[in-house]
Amino acid sequence: MVNSVGIFNEKVHEVNGAKGVRIYSAVSAFPRVVSVTSGKGGVGKTNIVGNLAIALRRLGKRVLILDGDLGLANIDIIFGLSPAYNIRHVISGEKDLAEVIVEGPEGILIIPAGSGVHELAHLTNGQKLNLLNEFDTLDGDFDIFLIDTGAGISSNIIYFNIAAQERIVVATCEPSSIRSASALMEIMHTQHGTRRFKLLVNMVNDEEEARSVFEDLTGSLERFGKDMSLEYLGFILKDDNFQRAAREQCPVLQRYPESAASKGFCELAERFLASSENGLSDGNIKFFWRKLISCH
Ligand SMILES: Nc1ncnc2c1ncn2[C@@H]1O[C@H](COP(=O)(O)OP(=O)(O)OP(=O)(O)O)[C@@H](O)[C@H]1O
Ligand SMILES: [Mg+2]
Repeated sequence: MVNSVGIFNEKVHEVNGAKGVRIYSAVSAFPRVVSVTSGKGGVGKTNIVGNLAIALRRLGKRVLILDGDLGLANIDIIFGLSPAYNIRHVISGEKDLAEVIVEGPEGILIIPAGSGVHELAHLTNGQKLNLLNEFDTLDGDFDIFLIDTGAGISSNIIYFNIAAQERIVVATCEPSSIRSASALMEIMHTQHGTRRFKLLVNMVNDEEEARSVFEDLTGSLERFGKDMSLEYLGFILKDDNFQRAAREQCPVLQRYPESAASKGFCELAERFLASSENGLSDGNIKFFWRKLISCH
């Protein structure tokens, strides 16, 4: 079991590759726990999580990312990291969380995904307990906990979205992306009672396109249930610099700070911080894991 005092006193851990991990010193506020999700794959979630995390750091926020794409890790690729351990080692009890967390650019901390962790639903009680024990003490150390969920309606993705406090749905203006975003929200609402979502529209040519996706989805939600809400968080323009940055395994905000996309991420971070928390008042990361585990 993790030594929480050691971890949270700015101790530098020589773990998980060359870099040690410096976990921030404990502060009492509870973080916002936010999933970034989509119906259709390839709409930009992982890039959004990585770049939004950097933009939030630059606004002074302490950010922890969970790569929730448990079958196919990819946040580490965006950051050019090769973590030696991942969440699978925490689940199995082989490693403490502090040994698994890696430091990304600008002090972002990342819990890498474990290839081979296919279904949270199939965890044994002992494995669930390992997870809970490890995550129990994280709350005071971060302002924002971002979860890159992967795409679709598989059980892991639905569970991450139920357990998070806030859900950012990413869609593009492709009809298949809009339809699948709508289907994801409908399932979350009808099967799990989730009512509030936030929308980020990616890869658009201009704001008008983004607004029309928002209107389409708002119309769908009104048909599903009067009590549902979709908050518009804005848009990121289509930008070829993503491809260039990807080849260099560097987030676009770091590599091409003057690009249209980078400006979009800075605005998104400000808008996100100004947007309402769907709030719990205490123990948010702890609550997230308890909720996640108890979904099964
Ligand atoms: N605004 C954008 N403009 C141009 N290309 C983009 C933009 N956002 C993302 N991309 C590109 O789209 C591709 C998919 O991005 P990404 O891997 O982040 O999507 P994803 O939603 O995480 O995919 P998956 O569902 O497979 O996890 C990448 O090649 C990325 O560089
Ligand atoms: Mg992804």
